[in-house]
Formats: sequence, C-alpha cells, structure tokens
Amino acid sequence: MPVAPLSIDSLRLSVAPMMDWTDSHCRVFHRLLAPRARLYTEMVHANAVLQGDRARLLARDPVENPVALQLGGSDPALLAGAARVGQEHGFDEINLNVGCPSDRVQAGRFGACLMKEPTLVADSVSAMVAAVDIPVTVKCRLGVDEENDYDRFAGFIDTVASAGCRIFFVHARNAWLKGLSPKQNREVPPLRYDWAYRIKRERPDLIIAVNGGIATVEDSLLHLQHTDGVMLGRAAYHDPYLLHRLDAALSGGETLPRAQLLRAMRPYVESRLDQGLALKHIARHLLGLFHGQPGGRAFRQVLSEGAHRNGADWTLVEQAIAATESRLQSAA
Ligand SMILES: Cc1cc2nc3c(=O)[nH]c(=O)nc-3n(C[C@H](O)[C@H](O)[C@H](O)COP(=O)(O)O)c2cc1C
Repeated sequence: MPVAPLSIDSLRLSVAPMMDWTDSHCRVFHRLLAPRARLYTEMVHANAVLQGDRARLLARDPVENPVALQLGGSDPALLAGAARVGQEHGFDEINLNVGCPSDRVQAGRFGACLMKEPTLVADSVSAMVAAVDIPVTVKCRLGVDEENDYDRFAGFIDTVASAGCRIFFVHARNAWLKGLSPKQNREVPPLRYDWAYRIKRERPDLIIAVNGGIATVEDSLLHLQHTDGVMLGRAAYHDPYLLHRLDAALSGGETLPRAQLLRAMRPYVESRLDQGLALKHIARHLLGLFHGQPGGRAFRQVLSEGAHRNGADWTLVEQAIAATESRLQSAA
C-alpha cells in the first residue's frame, strides 16, 4: 500500500499526545518553541470524530503542522472513516492509541488492552492505511500486566507492521490493566528502554521512537543513538523550554531567550481573545516556561492568578514577564 513519505528528521523529536493538555493552544505554543518537532493531539475516539463536534475536537491552527491526530478505537471501519476525516482536516499523520490503560478505555476495548489483540490492531491499521494517503502510526506499550516476553512484543510489532504501519512510538513500559490508575501506569511499571533499542536493531526498516520518562537534552541524545526518535510528554509540558533546547540541539541552531519566544505568541493570543476566548485557556499551557529559573514562581503566580479574571489580556503576560525579570535581576 503506498504511504506518503515521512522524513525521519521530523520524527527525531515529538511531543506526546496528552489528554486535556495537548490541545490546539498548547500545540501552537510548542510549535513556536520547537519548530521541527512533531506534535500530537489529545486522543479522540473514532466515534467522536465521526459523530461529535468536529470544530472543537479537531481544532487545529495551521502553524501547528506537522501535527498528528491520535485516534482511539478498535473498529476498523470506524477508524478508517475517522482517519479520512482527520486527513481532510489537515492532519499529517494518523496515530492509533495502543497505550492508554484507563478503565473507560478497557471497557471500550481500545488503548493498551489492544496489545493483547495484534490481529485486531493490524486490521485497524490496514483499514486506515487503505483510507488515507498520510502515514498511519501506532503508539504502544511493551506489553500488559506481568508479561515479560520480548518475543511477544516483537510479534505484536511484526503483525502490525505487516498491515502497513512503519512507524512506532514505544512507551517503554508495560501497562498494568488492573489495580493502577492511568497516572500510576505512567510511573510504576518499570521502564525498559532496551526493548525499544532492540526492536530497532532487529527491524532496521521500521522507524522507532522511544517514549517514557525522558526529561533532559542529554538523555534524549543518548536515546537517539539507539532509536530514530524521542517522544517527550510530561517533561515537555511542565518544562516547555526543554523542547526549545532540544530542538536547537538537534538542529544545531541557537536558543532564544524565553521572553522572546513567549512574545512570539502574542498575535495568536490576541486573535483568540478577539474571538472571545478567555486568556486562562491559553495561559495554563505557558505556566512552566520559566521552570527552574529564579523568577519561575513569580511568572507562574502572576499569570495563573490573573488569567482567571474577566478581561485579562496580553498586558498580564507582560506583567508576568516583568515580575520574572525583576526576580532574575535580583538573583544575579
Ligand atoms: C495528562 C496526560 C494525558 C495523557 N493522554 C494520553 C493520550 O491521550 N494518548 C496517549 O497515547 N497517551 C497519553 N498519555 C501518555 C503520554 O503520551 C506518554 O506516553 C506518557 O506520559 C509517558 O511519557 P512521559 O514520561 O514523557 O510523560 C498521557 C499522559 C499524561 C501525563
């Protein structure tokens, strides 16, 4: 099945799909910080894409691209329909979620429990591949529950790859389907990066990006010695300047100061405020920009408190920058 080429360069750095976090406003901010990163939407269920409020669920600003739509589901026909809608709405890739362990997701037979059903995942992938001409990719775990069988994981990858998926994002830990919350499932099952490295070594034709617990430029560069890409989730959200440093490190470019990057958001913020959006919906994604800096708390405080007030506008962002810079100067 012909699939549009996707350059490995654009997969070296990606920002993980994160429900309630990686909405369109967040992705616009991340794009400014990391011009070369690949961005992912929050997971949207295929049914919702087909029957829900598309203007809200598939909201996308053109500056975000390259951006992938992450789908949840396990009905090949519905997924194919949703993938087609995603392509029509300007997404560059369709990514299938085979990693989410929540009870709601298990009841709907999608997410991480699909690690146990490689044939169903393969059927879903081949239906989507036939429906679109953008790449169809999969984000998965190593296995579920107490499984500790590399061959089983490799078998899953092979079955899904044979259906036309060439690109895998491997969250390098198991999902425990019983007894752990989704949050614990991102922390408790041990990370085993070596499985991601090994599958890349043994299947060099596949593109493998590793995900899970990556929080520094140095670690990212180490992972990139063994895999094609790194996908960062929580660290990118809580410390977005890390994305900028990583993007610069990978491209050999210069880093820009935080305040300068933030000011590049101004036209976007003001255009959204003009449309009636409250500042708090964008500001919440900006709070971590000065993470770890002497003025970081002041920035977060001024912005988070003020953004909830009626009529809050860009002036508040400037006040937050000024508060931060005055703390920075007194720390110097
Ligand atoms: C708030 C939150 C929401 C998430 N939502 C999704 C999701 O919608 N789809 C998905 O595949 N993974 C989701 N994840 C998992 C992340 O994509 C990622 O695999 C996980 O956080 C491990 O990467 P990290 O250690 O870099 O954060 C979510 C994670 C967080 C913290």
